[in-house]
Amino acid sequence: MSALLEARAVSKIFGGGLFDKRVTVALDAFSFAIESTPPRVTAIVGESGSGKTTLARLLLGLIGPTTGEVLYNGSDLRKLSHAERRSFLRDVQMIFQDPYEVYNPFYKVDHVLETPISEFKLASGAQARRALIHESLRAVGLRPDETLGRYPHQLSGGQRQRIMVARAVCCGRG
Ligand SMILES: Nc1ncnc2c1ncn2[C@@H]1O[C@H](COP(=O)(O)OP(=O)(O)OP(=O)(O)O)[C@@H](O)[C@H]1O
Ligand SMILES: [Mg+2]
Repeated sequence: MSALLEARAVSKIFGGGLFDKRVTVALDAFSFAIESTPPRVTAIVGESGSGKTTLARLLLGLIGPTTGEVLYNGSDLRKLSHAERRSFLRDVQMIFQDPYEVYNPFYKVDHVLETPISEFKLASGAQARRALIHESLRAVGLRPDETLGRYPHQLSGGQRQRIMVARAVCCGRG
């Protein structure tokens, strides 16, 4: 059985181009795998500049490796069909350390939960959507009446971060 998420000898080299001649080897033939069972938490630890964020961006398919490959359920991220890519983007959710940048200050925080629900059709009808939002917020220990209807700056940093966790929960439940 193939791993859930796997990096095979992944390297990422920045620069060396016309505009940035400096070459930075951000990641050098890095390999690791996360199996689907049993469920587990994997932490990537390293000093500043050691390539953690670069690895995260590669695993999310936001950037491509210079050499090597990133596989999700055995499929190379770069070779996913349109439908497989959509399912990958739904399954693999990013939770930012400082999610303030993710929020649009002009939208109530409800918006970050509503977007994936409509994008991935996780609920049909306003009532089912509301139920899923409430359930996901409670799952991360937030009270819907305390969080919904507010603007990002009206919440604490921890609440903002937990809404991002609720967003990931939403994608898993809908
Ligand atoms: N877009 C880029 N262009 C050029 N160099 C980059 C780019 N992104 C990252 N780097 C370089 O790649 C190396 C790894 O950076 P990365 O951001 O992955 O480190 P990190 O482990 O996340 O560090 P930190 O703990 O400080 O967040 C660093 O030397 C960085 O300067
Ligand atoms: Mg980083």
